[in-house]
Amino acid sequence: MQNFEALSKQFTEQFNKDHFPKEPSSLYEPNDYFLSLGGKRIRPVMVLMGNELFDNITEDAWNVATAVELFHNFTLVHDDIMDKAPLRRGMQTVHEKFGESTALLAGDVMLVVAYDYLNKVSPNYLRRIIHLFNQTAREVCEGQQLDMDFEKKESVDFASYEKMISLKTSVLLAASLKMGAILGGALERNQNLIYEFGRKLGLAFQVQDDYLDAFGDAAKFGKQIGGDIKANKKTFLLIHALETTSPSQKEKLKHLLKTDESSKVEKVLAIFKDCGVDDWAEQLKEQYLAEALKHLDDVAVLSIRKEPLKELASFLIQRQH
Ligand code: IPE
Ligand code: IPE
Ligand code: MG
Ligand code: MG
Ligand code: MG
Repeated sequence: MQNFEALSKQFTEQFNKDHFPKEPSSLYEPNDYFLSLGGKRIRPVMVLMGNELFDNITEDAWNVATAVELFHNFTLVHDDIMDKAPLRRGMQTVHEKFGESTALLAGDVMLVVAYDYLNKVSPNYLRRIIHLFNQTAREVCEGQQLDMDFEKKESVDFASYEKMISLKTSVLLAASLKMGAILGGALERNQNLIYEFGRKLGLAFQVQDDYLDAFGDAAKFGKQIGGDIKANKKTFLLIHALETTSPSQKEKLKHLLKTDESSKVEKVLAIFKDCGVDDWAEQLKEQYLAEALKHLDDVAVLSIRKEPLKELASFLIQRQH
Protein backbone atom coordinates (compact mmCIF):
# COMPACT_ATOMS: atom_id res chain seq x y z
CA MET A 1 0.00 0.00 0.00
CA GLN A 2 1.45 3.33 -1.01
CA ASN A 3 0.71 6.74 0.43
CA PHE A 4 -0.12 9.97 -1.37
CA GLU A 5 3.47 11.11 -1.63
CA ALA A 6 4.72 7.89 -3.19
CA LEU A 7 1.87 7.63 -5.67
CA SER A 8 1.90 11.29 -6.69
CA LYS A 9 5.63 11.09 -7.32
CA GLN A 10 5.21 8.05 -9.57
CA PHE A 11 2.25 9.58 -11.31
CA THR A 12 4.04 12.87 -11.92
CA GLU A 13 7.07 11.08 -13.37
CA GLN A 14 5.01 9.28 -15.96
CA PHE A 15 2.61 12.18 -16.58
CA ASN A 16 5.41 14.66 -17.37
CA LYS A 17 5.82 13.75 -21.01
CA ASP A 18 4.43 15.09 -24.26
CA HIS A 19 0.68 14.68 -24.47
CA PHE A 20 0.27 16.91 -27.51
CA PRO A 21 1.84 17.31 -30.95
CA LYS A 22 4.16 20.29 -31.60
CA GLU A 23 2.15 22.06 -34.29
CA PRO A 24 0.29 24.34 -34.29
CA SER A 25 2.25 25.56 -31.31
CA SER A 26 -0.26 28.36 -30.81
CA LEU A 27 -2.75 25.67 -29.76
CA TYR A 28 -0.56 23.16 -27.94
CA GLU A 29 1.95 25.43 -26.21
CA PRO A 30 -0.74 26.83 -23.89
CA ASN A 31 -1.55 23.29 -22.74
CA ASP A 32 2.12 22.41 -22.23
CA TYR A 33 2.45 25.64 -20.26
CA PHE A 34 -0.53 24.84 -18.07
CA LEU A 35 0.45 21.24 -17.36
CA SER A 36 3.99 22.33 -16.52
CA LEU A 37 2.58 24.39 -13.63
CA GLY A 38 1.87 21.16 -11.78
CA GLY A 39 -0.94 20.98 -9.28
CA LYS A 40 -1.53 18.55 -6.47
CA ARG A 41 -2.51 15.62 -8.73
CA ILE A 42 -5.13 14.53 -6.23
CA ARG A 43 -7.55 12.91 -8.65
CA PRO A 44 -5.11 10.59 -10.47
CA VAL A 45 -3.76 9.50 -7.10
CA MET A 46 -7.33 8.71 -6.09
CA VAL A 47 -7.70 6.46 -9.14
CA LEU A 48 -4.52 4.64 -8.11
CA MET A 49 -5.56 4.41 -4.45
CA GLY A 50 -9.04 3.20 -5.39
CA ASN A 51 -7.38 0.44 -7.39
CA GLU A 52 -4.80 -0.44 -4.73
CA LEU A 53 -7.43 -0.67 -2.01
CA PHE A 54 -8.53 -3.91 -3.68
CA ASP A 55 -5.59 -5.20 -5.72
CA ASN A 56 -2.27 -4.35 -7.36
CA ILE A 57 -2.30 -1.27 -9.57
CA THR A 58 -2.93 -2.17 -13.20
CA GLU A 59 -1.89 -0.58 -16.47
CA ASP A 60 -5.52 0.42 -17.00
CA ALA A 61 -5.45 2.48 -13.80
CA TRP A 62 -2.46 4.49 -15.04
CA ASN A 63 -4.32 5.34 -18.23
CA VAL A 64 -7.49 6.28 -16.35
CA ALA A 65 -5.43 8.37 -13.92
CA THR A 66 -3.88 10.25 -16.85
CA ALA A 67 -7.28 10.78 -18.46
CA VAL A 68 -8.74 12.08 -15.20
CA GLU A 69 -5.90 14.56 -14.65
CA LEU A 70 -6.22 15.85 -18.22
CA PHE A 71 -9.97 16.18 -17.79
CA HIS A 72 -9.47 18.08 -14.53
CA ASN A 73 -6.99 20.45 -16.18
CA PHE A 74 -9.43 21.03 -19.03
CA THR A 75 -12.12 22.01 -16.52
CA LEU A 76 -9.70 24.43 -14.85
CA VAL A 77 -8.81 26.18 -18.12
CA HIS A 78 -12.50 26.73 -18.87
CA ASP A 79 -13.37 27.49 -15.24
CA ASP A 80 -10.81 30.30 -15.19
CA ILE A 81 -12.47 31.89 -18.20
CA MET A 82 -15.90 31.65 -16.55
CA ASP A 83 -14.56 32.96 -13.22
CA LYS A 84 -12.39 35.67 -14.84
CA ALA A 85 -9.48 34.36 -12.80
CA PRO A 86 -6.07 35.97 -13.45
CA LEU A 87 -3.97 33.45 -11.50
CA ARG A 88 -3.71 29.71 -11.05
CA ARG A 89 -0.96 27.67 -9.49
CA GLY A 90 0.81 30.94 -8.83
CA MET A 91 1.00 31.84 -12.52
CA GLN A 92 -1.05 33.57 -15.21
CA THR A 93 -4.13 31.64 -16.29
CA VAL A 94 -4.21 30.31 -19.87
CA HIS A 95 -6.78 32.83 -21.11
CA GLU A 96 -4.84 35.74 -19.53
CA LYS A 97 -1.64 34.65 -21.21
CA PHE A 98 -2.90 33.40 -24.55
CA GLY A 99 -6.39 34.90 -24.99
CA GLU A 100 -9.86 33.53 -24.42
CA SER A 101 -10.44 31.89 -27.78
CA THR A 102 -7.19 29.96 -27.58
CA ALA A 103 -7.97 28.93 -23.99
CA LEU A 104 -11.31 27.53 -25.13
CA LEU A 105 -9.73 25.46 -27.90
CA ALA A 106 -6.75 24.40 -25.80
CA GLY A 107 -9.20 23.12 -23.18
CA ASP A 108 -11.26 21.34 -25.84
CA VAL A 109 -8.28 19.52 -27.26
CA MET A 110 -7.12 18.57 -23.74
CA LEU A 111 -10.50 16.86 -23.22
CA VAL A 112 -10.12 15.00 -26.51
CA VAL A 113 -6.65 13.78 -25.54
CA ALA A 114 -8.09 12.61 -22.20
CA TYR A 115 -10.38 10.30 -24.20
CA ASP A 116 -7.40 8.92 -26.13
CA TYR A 117 -6.04 7.66 -22.80
CA LEU A 118 -9.42 6.27 -21.73
CA ASN A 119 -9.60 4.42 -24.99
CA LYS A 120 -6.51 2.41 -24.02
CA VAL A 121 -8.42 0.69 -21.19
CA SER A 122 -8.88 -3.06 -21.73
CA PRO A 123 -12.13 -4.04 -23.42
CA ASN A 124 -13.58 -5.83 -20.39
CA TYR A 125 -13.59 -2.56 -18.41
CA LEU A 126 -13.87 0.07 -21.13
CA ARG A 127 -17.65 0.45 -21.29
CA ARG A 128 -18.07 0.73 -17.53
CA ILE A 129 -15.25 3.26 -17.27
CA ILE A 130 -16.53 5.43 -20.15
CA HIS A 131 -20.05 5.31 -18.74
CA LEU A 132 -18.95 6.58 -15.31
CA PHE A 133 -16.52 9.08 -16.81
CA ASN A 134 -19.23 10.55 -19.05
CA GLN A 135 -21.84 10.68 -16.32
CA THR A 136 -19.31 12.53 -14.17
CA ALA A 137 -18.32 14.95 -16.93
CA ARG A 138 -21.97 15.81 -17.52
CA GLU A 139 -22.47 16.42 -13.82
CA VAL A 140 -19.44 18.70 -13.65
CA CYS A 141 -20.99 20.81 -16.44
CA GLU A 142 -24.28 20.93 -14.52
CA GLY A 143 -22.49 22.02 -11.35
CA GLN A 144 -20.51 24.67 -13.19
CA GLN A 145 -23.69 26.08 -14.72
CA LEU A 146 -25.42 26.18 -11.31
CA ASP A 147 -22.36 27.93 -9.87
CA MET A 148 -22.76 30.67 -12.51
CA ASP A 149 -26.55 30.83 -12.18
CA PHE A 150 -26.10 31.41 -8.45
CA GLU A 151 -23.86 34.45 -9.08
CA LYS A 152 -26.95 36.28 -10.27
CA LYS A 153 -29.19 35.25 -7.38
CA GLU A 154 -29.49 37.40 -4.27
CA SER A 155 -29.31 34.37 -2.02
CA VAL A 156 -29.06 30.59 -2.25
CA ASP A 157 -29.93 28.11 0.48
CA PHE A 158 -27.38 25.73 1.91
CA ALA A 159 -28.92 22.64 0.34
CA SER A 160 -28.58 24.20 -3.13
CA TYR A 161 -24.96 25.11 -2.42
CA GLU A 162 -24.24 21.56 -1.32
CA LYS A 163 -25.82 20.15 -4.46
CA MET A 164 -23.85 22.57 -6.65
CA ILE A 165 -20.45 21.74 -5.08
CA SER A 166 -21.26 18.06 -5.17
CA LEU A 167 -21.73 18.31 -8.93
CA LYS A 168 -18.91 20.67 -9.84
CA THR A 169 -16.28 19.13 -7.57
CA SER A 170 -17.17 16.06 -5.52
CA VAL A 171 -18.33 13.71 -8.22
CA LEU A 172 -14.94 13.79 -9.95
CA LEU A 173 -13.13 12.82 -6.75
CA ALA A 174 -15.75 10.14 -6.11
CA ALA A 175 -15.60 8.78 -9.64
CA SER A 176 -11.79 8.71 -9.59
CA LEU A 177 -11.89 6.38 -6.59
CA LYS A 178 -14.68 4.30 -8.06
CA MET A 179 -12.96 3.86 -11.43
CA GLY A 180 -9.89 2.66 -9.54
CA ALA A 181 -12.07 0.29 -7.52
CA ILE A 182 -13.72 -1.09 -10.67
CA LEU A 183 -10.26 -1.80 -12.12
CA GLY A 184 -9.25 -3.40 -8.82
CA GLY A 185 -12.10 -5.88 -9.17
CA ALA A 186 -14.16 -4.49 -6.26
CA LEU A 187 -17.67 -5.77 -5.65
CA GLU A 188 -20.43 -3.30 -6.49
CA ARG A 189 -21.22 -2.62 -2.84
CA ASN A 190 -17.62 -1.65 -2.20
CA GLN A 191 -17.53 0.47 -5.36
CA ASN A 192 -20.53 2.42 -4.13
CA LEU A 193 -19.12 2.88 -0.63
CA ILE A 194 -15.84 4.22 -1.96
CA TYR A 195 -17.78 6.57 -4.26
CA GLU A 196 -19.73 7.99 -1.30
CA PHE A 197 -16.51 8.33 0.68
CA GLY A 198 -15.07 10.40 -2.17
CA ARG A 199 -18.22 12.44 -2.56
CA LYS A 200 -18.36 13.49 1.08
CA LEU A 201 -14.64 14.14 1.09
CA GLY A 202 -15.12 16.28 -2.03
CA LEU A 203 -17.66 18.43 -0.20
CA ALA A 204 -15.12 19.07 2.56
CA PHE A 205 -12.49 19.74 -0.12
CA GLN A 206 -14.62 22.41 -1.80
CA VAL A 207 -15.50 23.96 1.58
CA GLN A 208 -11.77 24.33 2.20
CA ASP A 209 -11.31 25.77 -1.30
CA ASP A 210 -14.02 28.35 -0.67
CA TYR A 211 -12.50 29.19 2.71
CA LEU A 212 -9.02 29.66 1.18
CA ASP A 213 -10.46 31.82 -1.60
CA ALA A 214 -11.45 34.28 1.13
CA PHE A 215 -8.83 33.80 3.83
CA GLY A 216 -5.94 31.91 2.23
CA ASP A 217 -2.37 33.04 1.78
CA ALA A 218 -2.09 34.10 -1.88
CA ALA A 219 1.50 32.89 -2.16
CA LYS A 220 0.55 29.38 -1.06
CA PHE A 221 -2.93 29.17 -2.59
CA GLY A 222 -1.72 30.32 -6.01
CA LYS A 223 -5.06 31.90 -6.88
CA GLN A 224 -6.38 35.42 -6.48
CA ILE A 225 -7.75 35.91 -2.95
CA GLY A 226 -11.27 37.31 -2.92
CA GLY A 227 -12.10 36.13 -6.43
CA ASP A 228 -15.30 34.44 -5.22
CA ILE A 229 -16.41 37.64 -3.45
CA LYS A 230 -15.76 39.72 -6.56
CA ALA A 231 -17.82 37.32 -8.66
CA ASN A 232 -20.68 37.15 -6.11
CA LYS A 233 -20.21 33.41 -5.73
CA LYS A 234 -22.68 31.85 -3.33
CA THR A 235 -20.21 30.06 -1.10
CA PHE A 236 -21.03 28.65 2.34
CA LEU A 237 -19.28 31.73 3.75
CA LEU A 238 -21.78 34.10 2.17
CA ILE A 239 -24.74 31.84 2.88
CA HIS A 240 -23.75 31.53 6.54
CA ALA A 241 -23.17 35.29 6.85
CA LEU A 242 -26.55 36.12 5.31
CA GLU A 243 -28.23 33.67 7.67
CA THR A 244 -26.58 34.69 10.91
CA THR A 245 -25.67 38.37 10.72
CA SER A 246 -27.74 41.24 12.15
CA PRO A 247 -30.45 42.80 9.96
CA SER A 248 -28.37 45.93 9.39
CA GLN A 249 -25.24 43.98 8.43
CA LYS A 250 -27.36 41.82 6.18
CA GLU A 251 -28.56 44.89 4.28
CA LYS A 252 -24.98 46.08 4.02
CA LEU A 253 -23.88 42.72 2.67
CA LYS A 254 -26.72 42.63 0.13
CA HIS A 255 -25.76 46.14 -0.98
CA LEU A 256 -22.12 45.12 -1.34
CA LEU A 257 -23.15 42.25 -3.59
CA LYS A 258 -24.55 44.78 -6.03
CA THR A 259 -21.44 46.93 -6.13
CA ASP A 260 -18.07 46.73 -7.77
CA GLU A 261 -16.18 49.11 -5.50
CA SER A 262 -12.52 48.49 -4.82
CA SER A 263 -13.07 47.94 -1.09
CA LYS A 264 -15.76 45.27 -1.68
CA VAL A 265 -13.53 42.30 -0.83
CA GLU A 266 -12.17 43.92 2.32
CA LYS A 267 -15.65 44.88 3.55
CA VAL A 268 -17.21 41.50 2.85
CA LEU A 269 -14.30 39.74 4.55
CA ALA A 270 -14.85 41.86 7.66
CA ILE A 271 -18.51 40.79 7.82
CA PHE A 272 -17.53 37.14 7.28
CA LYS A 273 -15.09 37.35 10.19
CA ASP A 274 -17.77 38.93 12.41
CA CYS A 275 -20.03 35.97 11.70
CA GLY A 276 -17.50 33.45 12.93
CA VAL A 277 -17.10 31.74 9.57
CA ASP A 278 -13.83 30.15 10.71
CA ASP A 279 -15.62 27.96 13.23
CA TRP A 280 -18.40 27.24 10.80
CA ALA A 281 -15.87 26.06 8.20
CA GLU A 282 -14.20 23.77 10.71
CA GLN A 283 -17.54 22.29 11.78
CA LEU A 284 -18.65 21.69 8.22
CA LYS A 285 -15.40 19.98 7.26
CA GLU A 286 -15.43 17.80 10.37
CA GLN A 287 -19.00 16.76 9.68
CA TYR A 288 -18.29 15.84 6.04
CA LEU A 289 -15.10 14.06 7.01
CA ALA A 290 -16.90 11.99 9.64
CA GLU A 291 -19.57 11.00 7.11
CA ALA A 292 -16.88 10.16 4.55
CA LEU A 293 -14.97 7.98 7.01
CA LYS A 294 -18.11 6.08 7.93
CA HIS A 295 -18.44 4.97 4.32
CA LEU A 296 -14.77 4.04 4.17
CA ASP A 297 -15.14 1.99 7.36
CA ASP A 298 -17.90 -0.03 5.73
CA VAL A 299 -15.76 -1.04 2.76
CA ALA A 300 -15.09 -4.74 3.16
CA VAL A 301 -11.30 -4.92 3.01
CA LEU A 302 -8.66 -5.14 5.77
CA SER A 303 -8.55 -1.85 7.59
CA ILE A 304 -4.78 -1.52 7.13
CA ARG A 305 -5.44 -1.12 3.39
CA LYS A 306 -7.49 2.01 4.11
CA GLU A 307 -4.68 3.93 5.79
CA PRO A 308 -3.49 5.87 2.70
CA LEU A 309 -7.06 7.06 2.06
CA LYS A 310 -7.48 8.20 5.65
CA GLU A 311 -4.21 10.10 5.46
CA LEU A 312 -5.28 11.66 2.17
CA ALA A 313 -8.60 12.73 3.68
CA SER A 314 -6.99 14.65 6.51
CA PHE A 315 -4.49 16.26 4.14
CA LEU A 316 -7.26 17.44 1.82
CA ILE A 317 -9.26 19.25 4.44
CA GLN A 318 -6.24 20.92 6.05
CA ARG A 319 -4.58 21.96 2.81
CA GLN A 320 -3.41 25.55 2.39
CA HIS A 321 -2.85 25.28 -1.37
C1 IPE B 1 -9.10 23.06 -8.02
O1 IPE B 1 -8.70 21.76 -7.76
C2 IPE B 1 -10.53 23.06 -8.43
C3 IPE B 1 -11.46 22.69 -7.37
C4 IPE B 1 -12.30 21.75 -7.52
C5 IPE B 1 -11.45 23.42 -6.12
P1 IPE B 1 -7.28 21.43 -7.14
O2 IPE B 1 -7.10 22.22 -5.87
O3 IPE B 1 -7.14 19.97 -7.03
O4 IPE B 1 -6.29 22.02 -8.23
P2 IPE B 1 -4.80 21.61 -8.60
O5 IPE B 1 -4.88 20.61 -9.70
O6 IPE B 1 -4.12 21.07 -7.39
O7 IPE B 1 -4.18 22.90 -9.09
C1 IPE C 1 -14.18 24.78 -9.69
O1 IPE C 1 -14.57 25.44 -8.54
C2 IPE C 1 -14.66 23.45 -9.98
C3 IPE C 1 -14.19 23.05 -11.33
C4 IPE C 1 -13.11 23.49 -11.91
C5 IPE C 1 -14.99 22.13 -12.07
P1 IPE C 1 -13.77 26.79 -8.31
O2 IPE C 1 -14.07 27.79 -9.37
O3 IPE C 1 -13.95 27.20 -6.89
O4 IPE C 1 -12.26 26.29 -8.51
P2 IPE C 1 -11.01 27.23 -8.40
O5 IPE C 1 -11.07 27.89 -7.05
O6 IPE C 1 -11.08 28.20 -9.52
O7 IPE C 1 -9.84 26.29 -8.50
MG1 MG D 1 -15.60 28.15 -10.73
MG1 MG E 1 -12.68 29.08 -10.35
MG1 MG F 1 -12.46 28.12 -5.68
